[in-house]
Amino acid sequence: MPRCCFLVAFLCLVVVGARSAQAAYADDCNTPNGDSGQCMPFSSCSDIEQQLLKAQKSGQGLSPEYAGYLKNAACGEFNNVGHFCCANNQIQHNSKVMKLFKSSNFTCGTILSQRVSNGYEVQLSSRPWMALLRYQSIGQSRFLCGGTLISNRYILTAAHCVYGLEDQLYEIRLGEHRISTERDCRRQGRKEKCAPPVKDVGIEKFLLHEKYDSRRITNDIALLRLNSSVTFEKHVKPICLPITDKLKQEAESLSNYFVTGWGTTENGSSSDVLLQASVPIQPRSACSRAYRRDVLDTQLCVGGGDLQDSCKGDSGGPLQAPSLYLDEYKVRMVEFGIVSMGVTSCGQISLPGIYTNVAPYVQWITDTMARHGL
Ligand SMILES: *[C@@H]1O[C@H](CO)[C@@H](O)[C@H](O)[C@H]1NC(C)=O
Ligand SMILES: *[C@@H]1O[C@H](CO)[C@@H](O)[C@H](O)[C@H]1NC(C)=O
Ligand SMILES: *[C@@H]1O[C@H](CO)[C@@H](O)[C@H](O)[C@H]1NC(C)=O
Repeated sequence: MPRCCFLVAFLCLVVVGARSAQAAYADDCNTPNGDSGQCMPFSSCSDIEQQLLKAQKSGQGLSPEYAGYLKNAACGEFNNVGHFCCANNQIQHNSKVMKLFKSSNFTCGTILSQRVSNGYEVQLSSRPWMALLRYQSIGQSRFLCGGTLISNRYILTAAHCVYGLEDQLYEIRLGEHRISTERDCRRQGRKEKCAPPVKDVGIEKFLLHEKYDSRRITNDIALLRLNSSVTFEKHVKPICLPITDKLKQEAESLSNYFVTGWGTTENGSSSDVLLQASVPIQPRSACSRAYRRDVLDTQLCVGGGDLQDSCKGDSGGPLQAPSLYLDEYKVRMVEFGIVSMGVTSCGQISLPGIYTNVAPYVQWITDTMARHGL
């Protein structure tokens, strides 16, 4: 029996036998040993995953004691995946998804060129993770938010771009540069180089963060599962996420980020071509003052001052920085933030913007991807 099915068979026995007190994903709980923890799928829980693998390897199955432990630790089943109360110090990023993100042929965030021209226009195909979200309403089709490609099947964006708009949001555009032209080309000497045509892909699932608060705009993060997987090409590639502790710490210690986008908001796009601006990090207190609200650790405060160009990001688009990914010497582009609030006031004296801090949500991202299929 393949490994996956073997484990699933185990878990079914365990879960079916349990008097499952239904908790929700990531709810606080106590393990049978009395440790505080969270309700997690087994592949996000280091000790449980190891015990299951050991049992599988030995061919003996689980010891009655451990089967009993799991029965008491079961906290629910979501999308046919058994969840267990996992001690806080055992919670790990989902092992299946991490295997993908760490595989040597997963070429995320590859930086072709950092150069910008005409002020702020990025080079053709140099930000291949940029996605545009297309909405249909009153017979009109428009791009009203941005996002990023993070695997061949998932788009990362803000929850406010999806919440209540599931009937209107219908397509993702990848590989775009100049919205108004069919083919995007650039002169190189006497020759013209063109990017391959854009890819428009349908959406299969809208996955908002379970704790998204549309009034306070917190946990403003969502995934879109595409209805088919895309093939990576020169102009369509994923961005990296801050999956290691080192990268997570970097989110707080960087002084500058890049915002890339077409200035796409609920009112449409403000730029025809893809632009990039450099924006400085600010203390959270600067955003607290500007917006008269608490700015949480799950948010970042960036931009403001004279930087009129901070308005060029797309709502739901990325805040990114080149960083060392895993143990390589080459830098790759990592998405540290998602445009959430207040970053779209072009032309006004610009206030800093509030971004969703991606690092604390990598657990949610990997668990959600694992649950809905890579
Ligand atoms: C990477 O390689 C593995 C096997 O080595 C393969 O299964 C997987 O499809 C490849 N992934 C990509 C993104 O090419
Ligand atoms: C994906 O969605 C698009 C747009 O809604 C649709 O045209 C296409 O047929 C769908 N593809 C698959 C494989 O379901
Ligand atoms: C969109 O347009 C409306 C009406 O002009 C304006 O009140 C609103 O602030 C605009 N929103 C953004 C995000 O620019």
